[in-house]
Amino acid sequence: MGEANWFDDDIERIVVTEQQIHDKIEELAKQVAADYAGVDSLLLVGVLKGAVMFMADFSRALGRLARPAELEFMAVSSYGQRATSSGVVRILKDLDRDIAGRHVIVVEDIVDSGLTLSWLLRYLDSRSAASVEVVALLRKPDAIKVDVPVKYVGFDIPNEFVVGYGLDFGERYREMPYIGVLRPSVYSRT
Ligand code: PRP
Repeated sequence: MGEANWFDDDIERIVVTEQQIHDKIEELAKQVAADYAGVDSLLLVGVLKGAVMFMADFSRALGRLARPAELEFMAVSSYGQRATSSGVVRILKDLDRDIAGRHVIVVEDIVDSGLTLSWLLRYLDSRSAASVEVVALLRKPDAIKVDVPVKYVGFDIPNEFVVGYGLDFGERYREMPYIGVLRPSVYSRT
Protein backbone atom coordinates (compact mmCIF):
# COMPACT_ATOMS: atom_id res chain seq x y z
CA MET A 1 0.00 0.00 0.00
CA GLY A 2 1.28 3.46 -0.85
CA GLU A 3 1.76 6.37 1.49
CA ALA A 4 -1.33 8.29 2.51
CA ASN A 5 -1.81 11.51 0.58
CA TRP A 6 -1.09 14.76 2.40
CA PHE A 7 -4.70 15.84 1.99
CA ASP A 8 -6.55 12.71 3.14
CA ASP A 9 -6.48 13.74 6.82
CA ASP A 10 -8.04 17.11 5.98
CA ILE A 11 -11.09 15.52 4.40
CA GLU A 12 -14.11 14.80 6.57
CA ARG A 13 -16.16 13.07 3.90
CA ILE A 14 -15.75 12.07 0.27
CA VAL A 15 -18.60 13.38 -1.89
CA VAL A 16 -17.53 11.95 -5.28
CA THR A 17 -14.86 9.26 -5.57
CA GLU A 18 -12.11 9.08 -8.17
CA GLN A 19 -13.81 6.09 -9.79
CA GLN A 20 -17.18 7.86 -9.90
CA ILE A 21 -15.54 10.86 -11.58
CA HIS A 22 -13.86 8.60 -14.12
CA ASP A 23 -17.04 6.70 -14.96
CA LYS A 24 -19.13 9.86 -15.19
CA ILE A 25 -16.68 11.51 -17.56
CA GLU A 26 -16.83 8.50 -19.87
CA GLU A 27 -20.62 8.72 -19.79
CA LEU A 28 -20.67 12.47 -20.48
CA ALA A 29 -18.18 12.11 -23.31
CA LYS A 30 -20.32 9.41 -24.93
CA GLN A 31 -23.38 11.65 -24.76
CA VAL A 32 -21.51 14.60 -26.25
CA ALA A 33 -19.89 12.45 -28.96
CA ALA A 34 -23.32 11.13 -29.97
CA ASP A 35 -24.99 14.55 -29.92
CA TYR A 36 -22.24 16.15 -32.04
CA ALA A 37 -21.73 13.22 -34.41
CA GLY A 38 -22.11 15.49 -37.44
CA VAL A 39 -19.79 18.23 -36.20
CA ASP A 40 -16.23 18.32 -37.59
CA SER A 41 -14.49 19.76 -34.58
CA LEU A 42 -15.81 20.90 -31.25
CA LEU A 43 -14.42 23.89 -29.42
CA LEU A 44 -14.11 23.21 -25.70
CA VAL A 45 -13.85 26.33 -23.54
CA GLY A 46 -12.52 25.57 -20.07
CA VAL A 47 -12.94 28.05 -17.25
CA LEU A 48 -9.73 28.40 -15.24
CA LYS A 49 -8.62 27.38 -12.84
CA GLY A 50 -11.21 25.01 -11.44
CA ALA A 51 -12.05 23.25 -14.70
CA VAL A 52 -8.50 22.27 -15.56
CA MET A 53 -8.68 18.65 -14.33
CA PHE A 54 -12.12 18.09 -15.80
CA MET A 55 -11.07 19.66 -19.12
CA ALA A 56 -8.02 17.41 -19.34
CA ASP A 57 -9.94 14.20 -18.62
CA PHE A 58 -13.08 15.11 -20.56
CA SER A 59 -11.17 16.08 -23.72
CA ARG A 60 -9.16 12.86 -23.59
CA ALA A 61 -12.35 10.82 -23.15
CA LEU A 62 -13.79 12.57 -26.23
CA GLY A 63 -10.58 11.92 -28.14
CA ARG A 64 -10.80 8.19 -27.40
CA LEU A 65 -14.27 8.29 -28.95
CA ALA A 66 -12.70 9.76 -32.10
CA ARG A 67 -14.24 13.20 -31.61
CA PRO A 68 -11.74 15.92 -32.44
CA ALA A 69 -11.81 18.97 -30.21
CA GLU A 70 -9.89 22.19 -29.86
CA LEU A 71 -9.15 23.46 -26.36
CA GLU A 72 -9.52 27.07 -25.30
CA PHE A 73 -9.35 28.54 -21.84
CA MET A 74 -10.82 31.61 -20.21
CA ALA A 75 -10.17 32.99 -16.78
CA VAL A 76 -12.79 35.17 -15.15
CA SER A 77 -13.30 36.72 -11.78
CA SER A 78 -16.45 37.88 -10.05
CA TYR A 79 -16.47 41.32 -8.51
CA GLY A 80 -16.78 41.35 -4.73
CA GLN A 81 -18.09 38.57 -2.55
CA ARG A 82 -19.64 35.63 -4.32
CA ALA A 83 -22.64 35.68 -1.98
CA THR A 84 -23.56 39.20 -2.97
CA SER A 85 -22.23 39.03 -6.49
CA SER A 86 -24.17 40.95 -9.08
CA GLY A 87 -23.04 38.49 -11.67
CA VAL A 88 -20.70 41.07 -13.19
CA VAL A 89 -17.60 39.25 -14.29
CA ARG A 90 -14.14 40.53 -15.16
CA ILE A 91 -12.19 38.75 -17.88
CA LEU A 92 -8.68 37.86 -16.67
CA LYS A 93 -7.88 35.80 -19.76
CA ASP A 94 -9.92 35.99 -22.91
CA LEU A 95 -10.30 33.47 -25.73
CA ASP A 96 -7.25 33.25 -27.99
CA ARG A 97 -9.26 32.89 -31.18
CA ASP A 98 -12.45 33.75 -32.96
CA ILE A 99 -15.32 31.42 -32.09
CA ALA A 100 -17.75 32.70 -34.74
CA GLY A 101 -19.55 29.81 -36.38
CA ARG A 102 -18.04 27.26 -33.99
CA HIS A 103 -19.87 24.68 -31.91
CA VAL A 104 -18.76 25.54 -28.39
CA ILE A 105 -19.01 23.51 -25.22
CA VAL A 106 -18.19 25.33 -22.00
CA VAL A 107 -16.42 23.01 -19.59
CA GLU A 108 -17.04 23.95 -15.95
CA ASP A 109 -16.05 22.19 -12.77
CA ILE A 110 -19.03 23.50 -10.79
CA VAL A 111 -22.18 25.53 -11.21
CA ASP A 112 -22.82 27.12 -7.84
CA SER A 113 -24.95 30.28 -8.02
CA GLY A 114 -24.85 30.09 -11.82
CA LEU A 115 -23.73 33.73 -12.04
CA THR A 116 -20.39 33.03 -13.71
CA LEU A 117 -21.94 30.77 -16.29
CA SER A 118 -24.87 33.04 -16.97
CA TRP A 119 -22.47 35.86 -17.81
CA LEU A 120 -20.21 33.59 -19.82
CA LEU A 121 -23.05 32.25 -21.96
CA ARG A 122 -24.14 35.79 -22.83
CA TYR A 123 -20.54 36.65 -23.68
CA LEU A 124 -20.05 33.62 -25.94
CA ASP A 125 -23.38 34.29 -27.66
CA SER A 126 -22.20 37.81 -28.41
CA ARG A 127 -19.16 36.29 -30.13
CA SER A 128 -21.47 34.58 -32.66
CA ALA A 129 -20.79 30.92 -31.88
CA ALA A 130 -22.91 28.53 -33.97
CA SER A 131 -24.03 26.85 -30.74
CA VAL A 132 -23.09 26.98 -27.08
CA GLU A 133 -23.78 24.23 -24.56
CA VAL A 134 -22.38 23.52 -21.12
CA VAL A 135 -20.90 20.44 -19.50
CA ALA A 136 -20.48 20.79 -15.74
CA LEU A 137 -19.05 18.08 -13.55
CA LEU A 138 -20.88 19.35 -10.46
CA ARG A 139 -23.98 21.39 -9.85
CA LYS A 140 -25.52 22.62 -6.59
CA PRO A 141 -29.25 22.86 -7.28
CA ASP A 142 -29.91 24.51 -3.89
CA ALA A 143 -27.41 27.32 -4.54
CA ILE A 144 -28.69 28.39 -7.96
CA LYS A 145 -29.56 32.09 -8.18
CA VAL A 146 -29.96 32.36 -11.91
CA ASP A 147 -31.38 29.69 -14.11
CA VAL A 148 -28.71 28.57 -16.57
CA PRO A 149 -29.17 25.88 -19.18
CA VAL A 150 -26.63 23.16 -18.39
CA LYS A 151 -27.15 20.38 -20.90
CA TYR A 152 -24.65 17.91 -19.47
CA VAL A 153 -24.35 17.55 -15.69
CA GLY A 154 -22.14 15.06 -13.90
CA PHE A 155 -23.39 15.16 -10.33
CA ASP A 156 -25.95 17.22 -8.44
CA ILE A 157 -24.50 17.73 -4.97
CA PRO A 158 -25.75 19.34 -1.73
CA ASN A 159 -25.06 23.00 -1.06
CA GLU A 160 -21.88 22.54 0.95
CA PHE A 161 -18.31 23.64 0.30
CA VAL A 162 -16.32 21.02 -1.55
CA VAL A 163 -12.71 20.78 -2.67
CA GLY A 164 -10.68 18.57 -4.96
CA TYR A 165 -10.42 17.72 -8.64
CA GLY A 166 -9.78 21.37 -9.51
CA LEU A 167 -11.78 22.95 -6.69
CA ASP A 168 -9.74 24.81 -4.09
CA PHE A 169 -9.78 26.27 -0.64
CA GLY A 170 -7.22 29.10 -0.61
CA GLU A 171 -5.61 27.59 -3.75
CA ARG A 172 -5.06 24.24 -2.02
CA TYR A 173 -6.60 20.82 -2.68
CA ARG A 174 -6.99 21.31 -6.45
CA GLU A 175 -4.79 18.28 -7.13
CA MET A 176 -6.89 15.89 -5.06
CA PRO A 177 -8.21 13.14 -7.37
CA TYR A 178 -11.60 13.04 -5.63
CA ILE A 179 -14.10 15.59 -4.32
CA GLY A 180 -14.72 15.99 -0.62
CA VAL A 181 -15.77 18.16 2.29
CA LEU A 182 -13.07 19.61 4.54
CA ARG A 183 -12.90 18.95 8.27
CA PRO A 184 -13.95 22.00 10.32
CA SER A 185 -10.47 22.05 11.91
CA VAL A 186 -8.99 23.00 8.52
CA TYR A 187 -10.88 26.30 8.58
CA SER A 188 -9.73 27.15 12.09
CA ARG A 189 -6.10 26.67 10.99
CA THR A 190 -6.32 29.59 8.58
C1 PRP B 1 -15.62 28.71 -9.35
C2 PRP B 1 -15.93 27.64 -10.38
C3 PRP B 1 -16.87 28.32 -11.33
C4 PRP B 1 -17.57 29.33 -10.45
C5 PRP B 1 -18.93 28.85 -10.12
O1 PRP B 1 -14.56 29.47 -9.79
O2 PRP B 1 -14.77 27.17 -11.02
O3 PRP B 1 -16.20 28.96 -12.38
O4 PRP B 1 -16.82 29.47 -9.24
O5 PRP B 1 -19.59 29.70 -9.23
P1 PRP B 1 -20.95 30.44 -9.56
O6 PRP B 1 -21.87 29.45 -10.21
O7 PRP B 1 -21.45 30.86 -8.18
O8 PRP B 1 -20.67 31.62 -10.41
P2 PRP B 1 -13.74 30.49 -8.87
O9 PRP B 1 -14.28 31.88 -9.08
O10 PRP B 1 -13.72 29.97 -7.46
O11 PRP B 1 -12.28 30.45 -9.52
P3 PRP B 1 -11.27 29.21 -9.73
O12 PRP B 1 -11.92 28.28 -10.72
O13 PRP B 1 -10.03 29.84 -10.28
O14 PRP B 1 -11.05 28.56 -8.38
